[in-house]
Amino acid sequence: MSKLPDHVGIDFGNYSVKAVELGNIKSKPSLIAFGSQSIPAGVLNSEEQGNQKKLSGALKSLYRGAGIRNKKVVLAIPESAVFTRYITLPGLKENELETAVFFKAKQYIPIPIEEVQMSYVVLGFDEIKNSYNILLVAAPRKTIDLYLNIVGQAGLEPLAIETESIAIGRAIYRSTNIKHMVALDFGSKTTDVSVMYDGRMIFSQSIAIGSDSMTQALVNQFGFEYAQAEQYKRNYGVTPNILENKIYNSLKPILDAMLVEVQRGIEFYKTTTLTPPPRDFFLAGEGALLPGLPEYIQTTFGINARVGDPWINIDVPKKLEPIVAKNKPNFAVAIGLALKEF
Ligand SMILES: Nc1ncnc2c1ncn2[C@@H]1O[C@H](COP(=O)(O)OP(=O)(O)OP(=O)(O)O)[C@@H](O)[C@H]1O
Ligand SMILES: [Mg+2]
Repeated sequence: MSKLPDHVGIDFGNYSVKAVELGNIKSKPSLIAFGSQSIPAGVLNSEEQGNQKKLSGALKSLYRGAGIRNKKVVLAIPESAVFTRYITLPGLKENELETAVFFKAKQYIPIPIEEVQMSYVVLGFDEIKNSYNILLVAAPRKTIDLYLNIVGQAGLEPLAIETESIAIGRAIYRSTNIKHMVALDFGSKTTDVSVMYDGRMIFSQSIAIGSDSMTQALVNQFGFEYAQAEQYKRNYGVTPNILENKIYNSLKPILDAMLVEVQRGIEFYKTTTLTPPPRDFFLAGEGALLPGLPEYIQTTFGINARVGDPWINIDVPKKLEPIVAKNKPNFAVAIGLALKEF
């Protein structure tokens, strides 16, 4: 009998494409191989053939560099390209749901319904209101085809495609068992907020300010070269009382602008679901390595914030331990995709 197909999780980002291959995902996951490969600026989400080629090329280099051989992959499309909506449908029978969801979707999705691929999850049934709580997830077919094409060009075989926040939710849930939490993914161009309930993603929003904006703020303010500004950001971040707070004061407005949007997202979650927002925040993405970030968020929101460690509960070979230790939050999406069960 052939073995169930283990697969590789692939996370496409503006900064880098990341891959994680796990074995044994049902019982005790173990790391087989992983790695990342940087992506030239402006290439992600581009419909230009040349750019798609660059991406599939990056994917091939990543496979070579990380020594990954498994060609079966699960990938995510960027959160910024996905529409997720929380809807309630009162007074329906279960067998009427599908038609109702698709009918209602037209109101919620800002592009023609024929051009999206849609799915929905029944989150629960509210006995008092006699209504179903539904999470609607829709992605433009164009975007899905774009990524399937890139993966195909790299000679890989896609098994499934999902959203980044669903993958993060899975990774963090499997590592913490905390069912109600907020995940913040600090990427280079975007910051994505999602809320998990009962281990499932029920709200997500992509904010168009990323960690690169902080580097740019240091370039603008101090006239640094970009690479030098990047070093200052990584070394000092938002740790107070260093270098007379010069770096801190320069990064603060950018971070505050991001967090205002995060707060708005969470308020929206609260008013649409009538659920108190979670008190546990997990930070993911490479931008989560910013020194002082968890403390800053914790103080701003008065909640528990920590850098997520999706590697907990994954067996890591001794020789990979030092690299894993330096990259705890970076691979949350790729790990979540690698943990997807079929
Ligand atoms: N040690 C660090 N401290 C602070 N920021 C860091 C650190 N290392 C990397 N970054 C920042 O993290 C960002 C890259 O994060 P990540 O790899 O998660 O992005 P991405 O997923 O490729 O991008 P996006 O999600 O926007 O498409 C860059 O802006 C980079 O400057
Ligand atoms: Mg990302």
